[in-house]
Amino acid sequence: MNKNFVSKLASMTGGLSAGSMEHMLPVLEKIRSLKKEKNAVVLSHYYMPPELQILASQGGIADFVGDSLGLSIEASKTKADAIIFCGVEFMAETAKILNPQKKVLIPDPSAGCSLASSIKAEDVKALKAKYHGVPVMVYINTYAETKAECDICCTSRNALNIAASFPGKELIFIPDKYMGMNLQKNLANHSDKKLILWNGACEVHEQFSGNISQLATANPTAEVLLHWEVPSRTVASSLKNNKGMVGSTTDIINYVGASSGDTFILGSECDLGAALMGLYPSKKFITPCIVCPHMKKITLYNTLKALEALHQENESLYRINLEEQLLERAYLPIRKMLDFA
Ligand code: 13P
Ligand code: SF4
Repeated sequence: MNKNFVSKLASMTGGLSAGSMEHMLPVLEKIRSLKKEKNAVVLSHYYMPPELQILASQGGIADFVGDSLGLSIEASKTKADAIIFCGVEFMAETAKILNPQKKVLIPDPSAGCSLASSIKAEDVKALKAKYHGVPVMVYINTYAETKAECDICCTSRNALNIAASFPGKELIFIPDKYMGMNLQKNLANHSDKKLILWNGACEVHEQFSGNISQLATANPTAEVLLHWEVPSRTVASSLKNNKGMVGSTTDIINYVGASSGDTFILGSECDLGAALMGLYPSKKFITPCIVCPHMKKITLYNTLKALEALHQENESLYRINLEEQLLERAYLPIRKMLDFA
């Protein structure tokens, strides 16, 4: 078990010091036995540190690793009593909304998101009053109160499809302005729909600018991988002479799998690079390595703490709590998204 973990981690990181490995192995053992004892699952996002992205079947502790859509679907169907959510707060909230009977614990409840905190329910109400009758598509990277005011939710994976197919000539998309601009450009191939945008940005992806264009120029045969949240001017400049794509986390993973290329420049969260290295060990990935400080609040050690607290007095320190009425209202746009496909 531990041998598998060590070799998987090495493939994702290029090797770790024996010191940190020594600390990790006993923690893994404790997490494994507590998961069994307390009937809990660990769901982990691709932006987690690599040691949290290793599946239980590969010697790690994660029962599922995925993007925000994959994690939501997995959370909605788990049979376990509790979910330990290794991701940020809006993701853990979504898990609770989709499966309210389960306990959902997040190892650090202060793991936020610059997009989620950029807009509140009152802002959506004001937008709806200003653009009367125009439907609102809300990115999953928002809090439950914001979602509850909206017509349909989307994730990076299904946003283009939903925006293209949603009835009407106009659509309000909140809160990521860069993602909105990128979607608007791509929508032009399918429809004349106009997106009305909010002024939010991802503090990680907005940092991809000259750093990516310079890497693209220095590596002309490398293919460029960009998340929807990267500024559209960076998308235009870095895809001018290099092959590549802009899309979701899953689009990025699938693009590499389908490409015959051997070198890629990553314009997304640094640990998606670790996931790519683990999935495609023969390919080379270059990245400015910008990390999401919120995602990095989740560690192997506080994951253990959350599991230890489960069903104990201090469980409330980690548990996601949402009022029943809010759970019901925020569920509607998410359900609509899941039905849309
Ligand atoms: P995904 O929907 O691709 O998982 O992205 C989540 C996110 O936080 C991007 O910054
Ligand atoms: Fe939010 Fe950006 Fe971090 Fe994703 S990477 S959780 S959008 S701050």
